[in-house]
Amino acid sequence: MSKESKIEIRNLTKAFYKKQASVTALDDISLTIEDGEFVCIVGPSGCGKTTLLRILAGLEQPSVGDFEIHSEMEGRPLQSMVFQERGVIPWLTVKENVAFGLKMRRMPKAHIKERTDYYLKKTGLDRFSHLYPKELSGGMKQRVSIARAFANDPEILLMDEPFAALDEQNKFILQEELLSIWAETKKTVVFITHSIDEALLLGDRILLMSAQPGKIIEQIHIDTPRPRTIEDIRKDPIMAGKFVDIWTHLQHEVQLSRKEYG
Ligand SMILES: Nc1ncnc2c1ncn2[C@@H]1O[C@H](COP(=O)(O)OP(=O)(O)O)[C@@H](O)[C@H]1O
Ligand SMILES: [Mg+2]
Repeated sequence: MSKESKIEIRNLTKAFYKKQASVTALDDISLTIEDGEFVCIVGPSGCGKTTLLRILAGLEQPSVGDFEIHSEMEGRPLQSMVFQERGVIPWLTVKENVAFGLKMRRMPKAHIKERTDYYLKKTGLDRFSHLYPKELSGGMKQRVSIARAFANDPEILLMDEPFAALDEQNKFILQEELLSIWAETKKTVVFITHSIDEALLLGDRILLMSAQPGKIIEQIHIDTPRPRTIEDIRKDPIMAGKFVDIWTHLQHEVQLSRKEYG
């Protein structure tokens, strides 16, 4: 493993067994993700994106192959996950939700307070810190998940379509907030999205996955400086070309997966 690489995935295959039939969700994935890199994964529904993230989070075991997360600091959690929804604990307040990971790890009280307050402020939640999740909008709940993930100071951040359920305006605001916190912390982020626009706005690199069984079929590097706008994606010939390239591949894969399922 090179010094700069943060995640190394080697020949990873995952099969699920359902009623004596086996489904190959991931097929021989090998991948290196650099320290501080923001990687977006795009692929048709059912191609194994969530499975890959769950394996990296330690929630599933690979069937074949393995992976390594290069850890720098003892006592720091390896990964924090942000889901599309269900990410907040309903009986805890906003502040308690953000502090949850740190509390579980029995960090000193002053440290918990400092980190929690910082990320509450960063995500604009400081005025709502005593509310419960049921009193929050979808966008605010996702803010809580993001604040908690960063407050926890993990080695890597795993995000599974975190903004998919949000309206365009909220999505835009949260994307900007995420990029601003990422620029400050330089965390390694693996971000799953079904939106090509979102991947082009956020990522240093986009990995395109095939229809089931999921393989990585294409890697696209995005060198355009941030902040990037939708206008850049539509009007800048390089970005627009990348959009079309990904879109064409994705259409093809979606058609393949349709045929597969009849
Ligand atoms: N726990 C499980 N048991 C059986 N099959 C599963 C399980 N989790 C995922 N799968 C199957 O693996 C494939 C990939 O699923 P998933 O990773 O959720 O795809 P994606 O997130 O790209 O939509 C699908 O065919 C899905 O039905
Ligand atoms: Mg998924």
